[in-house]
Amino acid sequence: MTWITPFPLDSDIGVRFYGSRMSTETTTSPLLRSAALGSHRLANRLVMAPMTRNRAASDGTPSPLMADYYAQRASAGMIIAEASTPNAVGRTYPNITALYSDAHTAGWREVVRAVEAAGGGPLFLQIQHGGRVGHPDTSGHTPLAPSAVPLPDTIHTPTGRQAAVTPRAMTTAEIGSTVADFAAAARRAVDAGFAGVEVHSANGYLLHQFLAPNTNLRTDGYGGGVPGRIRFTTEVVDAVAQAIGPERTGLRISPGNPVNGITDTDADELYPALLRANAGKGLAYLHLAYADPAAPLFARLRALWTGTLIANPVLPREQIPADGGREAAERLLAAGADLVALGRPFLANPDLVERIRTGGPVNPVRARYAMYTGGATGYTDYPALPALAR
Ligand SMILES: Cc1cc2nc3c(=O)[nH]c(=O)nc-3n(C[C@H](O)[C@H](O)[C@H](O)COP(=O)(O)O)c2cc1C
Repeated sequence: MTWITPFPLDSDIGVRFYGSRMSTETTTSPLLRSAALGSHRLANRLVMAPMTRNRAASDGTPSPLMADYYAQRASAGMIIAEASTPNAVGRTYPNITALYSDAHTAGWREVVRAVEAAGGGPLFLQIQHGGRVGHPDTSGHTPLAPSAVPLPDTIHTPTGRQAAVTPRAMTTAEIGSTVADFAAAARRAVDAGFAGVEVHSANGYLLHQFLAPNTNLRTDGYGGGVPGRIRFTTEVVDAVAQAIGPERTGLRISPGNPVNGITDTDADELYPALLRANAGKGLAYLHLAYADPAAPLFARLRALWTGTLIANPVLPREQIPADGGREAAERLLAAGADLVALGRPFLANPDLVERIRTGGPVNPVRARYAMYTGGATGYTDYPALPALAR
């Protein structure tokens, strides 16, 4: 498979628009057909992928600005809101969202209300523990991970980028309490109004660190061969499903994605085993990040997962395509995906669905710096089509 990093833009390319005028033609893209997700009716098959934007308060409470941002994108068939940490030690970067206090729950409730008031939904919330992708200056804790293997990189902290620290290997008791923290966060998510949560087992964060042989050197029942390494993710899925129901529980994976220093050497064996262990549970969906429909593993995973499959295509890393990812998304549907998640196209186009429907021009992504800085710039100031037409 070909992989890109989830944080792909390096330069400020300024504001420009693809195409010189709006087209009035509408398309009959299969992406625009409605779909069912359990008891939910989705207006279209376009899912807004989870994207960390670092706009929460320093304690992780979602901000009113975030409610505006998500409400602007309410026409997505479904929104998977950004990574939210289930406990303090799982915090990755400054100003990411959290979900372990009443204030966090209240902040998220306002986000859900705003999207629903704008006619959107369903919303799922991604629950992410960073594992070794964290820093004491950000979280106040030494990061916990399957093994004491540091991230081979620097990491963003409140005082700038710093070398990663060596994480502490989790005890069995800490594994158990972390599983419980995921379940507690899932309960809070439902309390805040989310339709469900997405367990983040992708992109090199804690659950992925348990899956990968280069980050999981454990010799107990959570390490070693494939059955040991898939155990933690499976236990988190089970605990979340038990807490809020399997129909409210999604799972995200990114087989082979080397981001955050991961080497998935046995992806062809591990991911089918992970799916076999979780396919019969009636989960809401499987979300495959950076999916290449031509890769043999894609077809294998599709065949193994009899439930809803959300696939996220591999788009060029420098910039989103002029069609907003439509062609790549349609290829995934043709290869068997039920829904398609897009990240940066939704980031830059609050009305992406309308632009795909009309073949209208697509805003490119602006500066990378604005992806992760606070404030409205590069966040809620991407124009919608009527603003362009004026
Ligand atoms: C700014 C930004 C933040 C992201 N944050 C997350 C995240 O919180 N959780 C996650 O699973 N993936 C995250 N990703 C990855 C996206 O969900 C998606 O997989 C990736 O951007 C590729 O899709 P795209 O080409 O449509 O943007 C992020 C990507 C970007 C650009």
